[in-house]
Amino acid sequence: MFETIAIVGATGAVGRIIRQLLEEREFPYRNIKFLASKRSAGTTITFKGEKFPVEELVPEAFENIDLAIGSTPDEVAKEFCPWAVERDCIVVDESGYWRMDPNVPLVVPEVNPEALENHRGLISSPNCSTTQMVVAMKPLHEAGRIRRVVVSTYQATSGAGVKGQEDLKAGTKAFLDGADYQYQAFKYPIAFNLIPQIGSPKQDGYTSEEIKMVKETHKIFGDDTIRVCPTCIRVPVDNCHSESILVETEKKITARQARELFAATPGIKVIDDLEGGKYPMPAQCDGDDAVFIGRIREDLSSDNGLAFWCVIDNLRKGAATNAVQIAELLVKMQAAV
Ligand SMILES: NC(=O)c1ccc[n+]([C@@H]2O[C@H](COP(=O)([O-])OP(=O)(O)OC[C@H]3O[C@@H](n4cnc5c(N)ncnc54)[C@H](OP(=O)(O)O)[C@@H]3O)[C@@H](O)[C@H]2O)c1
Repeated sequence: MFETIAIVGATGAVGRIIRQLLEEREFPYRNIKFLASKRSAGTTITFKGEKFPVEELVPEAFENIDLAIGSTPDEVAKEFCPWAVERDCIVVDESGYWRMDPNVPLVVPEVNPEALENHRGLISSPNCSTTQMVVAMKPLHEAGRIRRVVVSTYQATSGAGVKGQEDLKAGTKAFLDGADYQYQAFKYPIAFNLIPQIGSPKQDGYTSEEIKMVKETHKIFGDDTIRVCPTCIRVPVDNCHSESILVETEKKITARQARELFAATPGIKVIDDLEGGKYPMPAQCDGDDAVFIGRIREDLSSDNGLAFWCVIDNLRKGAATNAVQIAELLVKMQAAV
């Protein structure tokens, strides 16, 4: 057990779910503290029926902290992770800042738990759109070796944090009322619209979010020969990211085999009955920790292609659940020493 733990970014969209998960999963600890920006310092958080002050994120906040779970913007994680590690505090970080650092393992417990073994105090959790895709890829990769992936995402506004969630609700209300609304998280109105750009322009016509999906997939599988072509789209859904995924494998996998492989994989739930009108949808997956898969079918345009639809609660398995699962693995590793 870690004696004292800290939640960094405790007031954010992901931070709120981390708090819920620690309660739900009875994560073991003796003392806990909640850190956020100066703006929130002095406010209170109710956790397990008790009120706790939110403290300002400063280097000294990590004195005598054994484990921190962080979900802050990249530039904040860049600063605070070294403050913590220098003070012997292990950090599980949700931000994108450290993910591609060769000294930092990038871990999805269902896919590459072994990467955790050689950590040096800092562990990264992947981007939400990568996590659901690699969990779905894992059983197919083991059975038939994936050579290529074409993925289109349908990403919820909660992926842009508390401000993204506010934008959808307030922007929709303003649209219906015929009023003006100044969007905070999005460059264009998201109400009654979609935006085919997530992140900044990066390279060869791809955005930073899309390049993350390529590079993080390579790092997690330890295989940079898997070809990945992503298109990331923001849609007017409050929570839960969806993906339309097409994979090509070296060895053919039939739709029936894929259904069996997915169903036998811990962490995946299959809802796949087109005739009965049953498939995963964001509203139904909200609040669940699983990666949902449906619409499983063989590709009509290639020999070894397999197409399917995949939905996750991006705030849970796409972020908070993955980080808490990593923290649980660290507790197990500590107990085994
Ligand atoms: N949302 C998702 O689906 C998702 C999925 C995977 C990964 N992530 C990553 O998780 C991180 C957090 O995302 P989020 O959606 O939870 O964002 P959010 O709702 O905007 O929350 C950001 C958190 O960081 C804190 N923070 C901001 N600036 C700070 C500063 N200068 N010093 C200390 N704390 C500061 C905020 O505190 P205040 O309330 O005091 O401002 C808040 O607690 C991001 O790196 C994001 O990329 C998000």
